[in-house]
Order: sequence, then C-alpha cells, then structure tokens
Amino acid sequence: MPVIDLRSDTVTHPTQEMREAMARAEVGDDQSAEDPTVNHLEELAASKVGKEAAMYVPSGVMGNLCALLTHCGRGDEVVMGDESHIFWYESGGGSALGGLPYRTVRNGRYGDMDLDELNASIRPERSGFPPTGLVCLENTHNRCGGTVLNLEQMRKLAAVAHERGVPVHLDGARVFNAAAYLNVSVPELTATVDTVQFCLSKGLSAPVGSVLAGPAPFIHEARKARKMLGGAMRQAGVIAAAGIVALEHMVDRISKDHVSARKLAQRLSTLPGIEVDLTTVQTNIVVFKLADERWEPDQFLSVVAEEGLRISSFGARRLRMVTHYGLEAGDYDQAVKIIERVLVRVPAGAR
Ligand SMILES: Cc1ncc(COP(=O)(O)O)c(C=O)c1O
Repeated sequence: MPVIDLRSDTVTHPTQEMREAMARAEVGDDQSAEDPTVNHLEELAASKVGKEAAMYVPSGVMGNLCALLTHCGRGDEVVMGDESHIFWYESGGGSALGGLPYRTVRNGRYGDMDLDELNASIRPERSGFPPTGLVCLENTHNRCGGTVLNLEQMRKLAAVAHERGVPVHLDGARVFNAAAYLNVSVPELTATVDTVQFCLSKGLSAPVGSVLAGPAPFIHEARKARKMLGGAMRQAGVIAAAGIVALEHMVDRISKDHVSARKLAQRLSTLPGIEVDLTTVQTNIVVFKLADERWEPDQFLSVVAEEGLRISSFGARRLRMVTHYGLEAGDYDQAVKIIERVLVRVPAGAR
C-alpha cells in the first residue's frame, strides 16, 4: 500500500538531479577546508542569506547549538520562545554541553513575542544575575504551525536585544518558506539578525544538512564548536552537492507547498471533529485539533497509519501535517479522504 507521509518535510528524498550531483561531486578533506563542493556550498549559502560566511553542519540542531556555544560563554543565559524548537526538541544541548541556562518568553499565537516581555527577560547587569548572552528567534515557527514573523516584527524584536547589547540568532530552519510567504528576499529577513541557521534537508529536499551563517570571524569560531561536537566531516562534498542543487533549484517551488497546505487545511476545516485555525496556516505546516473526543490522538494516528497516512502529534490533541516535494494534489485529496473515513468510525474501545 502506498503511504502518504505528512509527518514532516524532513521525509523528502533527494531529487534525481541531487543524486546525479552527488555521484559527480568533487571532494577533499573538509576539515582542512579542501573539499571544493563544501566550499562552494558554504559560499553559495552565505550569499543566499546575505551573510559574510557560512558553515555546513549535519543537522539543524547542530547548527543552532554551534551558534549558542559560539555566541555565549559558560553561564550566559539564552533567551528563547517558550514554544521554540531549541527549547522543546534540541535536548537542552546549550545547557547540557555549554553551561547555558535557558530563559523562555511566551510565544504568541503566531510565534511572535511581546516586545516588553522580551525586554524584561534580558537581565540588567548585577552580581548574581546570569548575563544574557543571546536572544533566539524562530521563523517560520514550527510549533505555532509554520507561522511567519514579518520584517517589521523581526526588526522590532531584534532591536530590543541589540539595544541591550545582546546578539540575535535566528533558527531559520524554514526561513526560505518565511521569505516566500512574505514575498521578500531571505537576506532582507536575515539582515535583522546576527546569525542564522537554516535547513537544506526540509522543504528544500536535500538528504542531509543545514547551514549556520554569520560574520566571518563568528563562523571561524563556530568551526571550533562544530569540531568539538564531532560534526566536522571529511569528504562531505558528496552530501553538500545535494545542498547546492537544493539552493539552486528547489527554492522557487516552495510556494507550491504553501498552496497545498492552505487547500488541505481548508478541506480539513469542513470535517466534523476537526478544528483548524486557518489564520495559522501560512506556509507548509498544518496544525489541527482532533476535537472529536471519542478518539485518543495516538489511537487516531495509528488507525490513519493503517489506512496509509502518516501524520505527527504535537500534544494536547494537536496533530501536524507538513506538505512537501514529492507529493501531488491527489495525495492531499487522499489524505483528507482517509481522515474523513476514519472519523466516521467508532474507535475501538469507545463507549
Ligand atoms: C524550527 C526548527 N529548528 C531546528 C530543527 C532541527 O533540524 P534537524 O532535524 O535537521 O536537526 C527543526 C527540525 O524539525 C525545526 O523545525
């Protein structure tokens, strides 16, 4: 049975063009900066996000962690949204490995933060207070449903930190989706922050890898953090080649995923037992609530999986679907049909 996998855009497989580029890739020892394909990817990536330099890393988590470890010294506090990916899903790496306590600020419905609350979270200088080392933003915002911070919001949030002398890192795992939604260039968005991490392996479909970009001296230092974490690779040109194809050929199609997500969400919103806040469906993520309380979310997920649809859970009856390369309109139609079909059943064990 064919399976429609909407758990994430990370499930995308490399395109044929990527596979060919990988087979052809010229390689060398990247730890000595001798891999021409990695060097090319890093230059290209830096230019695509308007930063001076960039570093290829195996994952988004490692890109964010290298940023935290490089911006901060031991004991510095890192401020981030309470719904942020770094806070929820990155194993507390900055705290565990860097001695960096985390401080959260409430994320609004669309992944934003109140400017006064952000300002209040930055510590004044005082003996006993951990110094604030970094503010992290996230755009698009995963747990808020792929929502987008616009240029004005980015500028204002970053200005709060900068006015207090604190640098800003953007977890821009899906920053290309944010820019496509806003119809602005990625460098316009990232000009507001000091450093940015983005993923090649999500909507851009590369099999592996993320990029951390920022000023050249920062990236020079960040390479030490990557080495310490065991993330410095050797003939990584083999995978970087796919990243180059991703940046050159997969950015323009990203809006198609946004159109698909919107249609999917609209159709879901008509189903009894499902609630969707359509205002949060801005990019390629659809978060919806399983309001039909006869169904336990885990049971619902396993029954739809038996029918050939994979979706993921966000807790509190919230489920997530992500549209991506490799799926067509017919797959999304089929996904809605499966959900519709399952919802009319009586769950096993229900009274
Ligand atoms: C917002 C955000 N940041 C970071 C990451 C981490 O990326 P990776 O899975 O490549 O480590 C993800 C992954 O889903 C994400 O959604």
